Amino acid sequence: MNTPRTLILSLAAALLLAPALTAQPAAPAPSPAAANPPALYLGTAWYPEQWPESRWDADLTLMEQAHVRFVRIGEFAWSRLEPSEGHYDLDWLDRAIRAAERHHIAVVIGTPSAAPPAWLTTTYPETLRIKEDGRRDEHGNRQQFNWADPKYRELTRDMADQLAKRFGHDPNVIGWQIDNEYSDISFGPIARAQFDAWLKTRYGTLDNLNTRWTTAYWSETYNDWSQIPIETTDGNPGLLLSWKRFVSDTWRSYQKNQLDAIRANTGPPTGGLCPVGCNAEKRQFITTNMMGFYDGYDHYTVSQDLDMASWDDYVGTGQLNPVSNGAAHDLTRGFLRKNFWVMETQPGFVNWSPNNNSLDKGGVRAMAWLDVGHGADAVSYWQWRSDLNGQEEYHGTLVGTDGTPVPLYAEVARIGAEFAKAGPALEGTTVKSDVAILHSYDAYWAINWQRHNNAFDPLANLFAYYGALRAQAHSIDIVNPSVSLAQYKLVVAPALNLLTDQQAQNLIDYVHNGGHLVLTQRSAMKNEDNGLFTERQPGPLASLLGGRVEQYYALDTTIPVIGTWGTEPTKIWAELLSTSSPDTKVLMRYGKTPLGWLDDQPAAITRKVGKGSITYIGADLASDPESPTLAAAAKWMLADANVHPEFGALPPGVDLYIRKNASHEVWIFINFAEAPQTVALPTAFENVLAGGQTHSVSLKRFDVVILQRPTP
Ligand code: GLA
Repeated sequence: MNTPRTLILSLAAALLLAPALTAQPAAPAPSPAAANPPALYLGTAWYPEQWPESRWDADLTLMEQAHVRFVRIGEFAWSRLEPSEGHYDLDWLDRAIRAAERHHIAVVIGTPSAAPPAWLTTTYPETLRIKEDGRRDEHGNRQQFNWADPKYRELTRDMADQLAKRFGHDPNVIGWQIDNEYSDISFGPIARAQFDAWLKTRYGTLDNLNTRWTTAYWSETYNDWSQIPIETTDGNPGLLLSWKRFVSDTWRSYQKNQLDAIRANTGPPTGGLCPVGCNAEKRQFITTNMMGFYDGYDHYTVSQDLDMASWDDYVGTGQLNPVSNGAAHDLTRGFLRKNFWVMETQPGFVNWSPNNNSLDKGGVRAMAWLDVGHGADAVSYWQWRSDLNGQEEYHGTLVGTDGTPVPLYAEVARIGAEFAKAGPALEGTTVKSDVAILHSYDAYWAINWQRHNNAFDPLANLFAYYGALRAQAHSIDIVNPSVSLAQYKLVVAPALNLLTDQQAQNLIDYVHNGGHLVLTQRSAMKNEDNGLFTERQPGPLASLLGGRVEQYYALDTTIPVIGTWGTEPTKIWAELLSTSSPDTKVLMRYGKTPLGWLDDQPAAITRKVGKGSITYIGADLASDPESPTLAAAAKWMLADANVHPEFGALPPGVDLYIRKNASHEVWIFINFAEAPQTVALPTAFENVLAGGQTHSVSLKRFDVVILQRPTP
């Protein structure tokens, strides 16, 4: 239902536009907060439903003083938004949005579907998910819903519809978050029946499925679709992968159910609302908060309907690791290949880790600027104020239960002031990389189901290559192997175990078009059904390589590998390579060991293909991310691909992030090392925060220096 306020506004607008007989309804003028969107948003998760309204202004005043520019609200408030079935109470949410507006704070509304109310799950028990052990979940926690259940979808769509009809043109609402951190799934009969239908659509006939899954093995042959079980760890590899793809598609349709309701009720363009990376029509954006490298579903599948990617960036125990954290940002930027938001991040510490230690003083600020350096246009703290009860009483916040700032508040306020100051320099800029690392959930799952050597961790493997390349190239994209790779000079595929036909052709075309492709251990072994290719690795790429993997070995010993990149004790995994083409060169060879099979055999090979090249690394260079051989390999790859980073090696612990557009580039330096460091710059830069021109920067631990210059 429209509120009287919006009704009056739209009637007035209709009268104004009547003479022009235009079909476009007029949009309400954006609120001051939304009309002047900052290039960088500082935000926080606010739960007005937990506090007396008389308190809201005091909280919002403290937020405004800390330069908070948006709040995310509503995502767990179903029991307040619909206290009983069909009785919606959205007035309090409207009042909260208006209160934020008075403080120049824009709003992102979260749909509340991650926490259904008790009346709902009591009335419709089928909406409660069934766990893998067959037990039905119950009310009292969150994420207890069944993501496949038609009734739950109807109810969540109704809720999204109500919210969007009321706030889809709200001048102070800039965007929507659907649900919250998709994770728990349901294994009951509903999901089962939908999985059967999904399999039928994908495979057409049982004969086809039986052939592609090689079900003659262990008499797994199916005579009826209903015989196909759900397996998550030990099943046939084709079945395991199909279930994961079904889960991904089901999250996508779960999301689309709400997304369609919202999109139908947002816009027409309200003008000026959207941050960088938002949808082209400048409507309220729609996103969901993902979780970095969480692998419960294929994020490329789920993100394709969204306007913008966002994720929840938590450290948990310990201090920030700029390599793995940076990779998670670059992964998220790769979902839609543009800037993204950090929808939640930790205000010092969390409550769910084995040791919920705090980030060191200054570390929260360094982390925020690292986020921005990787392409985040917003950083939002979860949460504003401690809940007085509930499961997260111990979590870090910006104000305490008494409503006054905790020590971290000042650090976050400083970030907010800096976002305001540096925003104009960063507006319209993004990360541009010559180098891409390929990542696919299919390949990642395929290895994790059959590690063969438990010590082979595909994520650690990816981080090692990412870290070595980033240290020299300063920016890396992480993208899916299905996308166009034309913009990259160098593409590195760490353990890209599984390739679809389209992906294999994409890589072949990339090399033929002059690209430089590096495949590492375990790549191109499996087809799109998670079955083995009939060609040895790298399967469909073997003839392009002019070489192949003769045999793979899980290692229980260390084997030296020697050649162009130095000497490395290879561990965990080794692949014996051979060359079949006279122009395929051997870069590294294994040394002699009692294992014998690998003695003097090729460990890394490369072949030029026109202006491009294809390289295969069969030795483990990744178990020591700091290894000089890995660094030398990265240097060789960059040189081979003609990548000449604008800046050379950095002092240990110092990171550089570059965002640019056609006119200028912004360099962000952060020192994560204990020791102070000085960096000489190649040209004069303007110091964005401190002002003035500079030729060098000096950084103590956690210092952040932001520089800009015209794009050379
Ligand atoms: C997740 C959730 C939040 C909150 C935080 C705590 O990111 O989305 O609701 O539980 O964790 O760290």
